[in-house]
Amino acid sequence: MSPQSSTPRYTVPGLSTKEGGRLIDLLMMRLHSLNDLALTLKHIHWNVTGPHFIAVHEMLDPQTLAVRGMADAAAERISALGGVPHGTAGVLVAERTWHDYSVGRADAIAHLGALDLVYAGIIEDHRKAAAKAASVDPVTEDLLIEHLRSLEQFQWFVRAHLENSAGDLSTADAGSETQAAAKAGPSRAIPAKKTANSGRTAKKAATGKRAR
Ligand SMILES: [Fe+2]
Repeated sequence: MSPQSSTPRYTVPGLSTKEGGRLIDLLMMRLHSLNDLALTLKHIHWNVTGPHFIAVHEMLDPQTLAVRGMADAAAERISALGGVPHGTAGVLVAERTWHDYSVGRADAIAHLGALDLVYAGIIEDHRKAAAKAASVDPVTEDLLIEHLRSLEQFQWFVRAHLENSAGDLSTADAGSETQAAAKAGPSRAIPAKKTANSGRTAKKAATGKRAR
């Protein structure tokens, strides 16, 4: 389900309420992506195992904090535009277009393989949103570009664990998070996470990078 398009009663000076509504819809999906990413990062923080446990466990907390800050900025921009930022889990699950993160307790590097795909999805969609905002509102575009600067740095932190000295990523061409985890981690099965959403019908065909 996509968020309901709604024209706010007022918006920031210099924009029409229709333009404000378009930006609110755009930002609402970015808010869902960022809230989902913050939850996913904590889930990984709690479920990493193996010899790289402490490095990965501790690397993810500053990323979580920064992503929560991005979600806060996106939500407050929605409010400034005259919209209502929905931050509850129920609305997030109802409106998102991607699956729940699919790896449970697993080797730290295997999780980073899956996280690389998560970051790729959110970065691609943030870039698309920034490009759409550009023609309407440079302030919203600027906000999304600021997010991208950090998101792309965080993905590099992740990818540095997956890269060999020739510059190849162990997860190249992975078609799903579990496949990326299997390619990145030690050669053993990656157990799928059992969640309340495990049995849901796929919202999107599985692709290497999920829209977020
Ligand atoms: Fe912790």
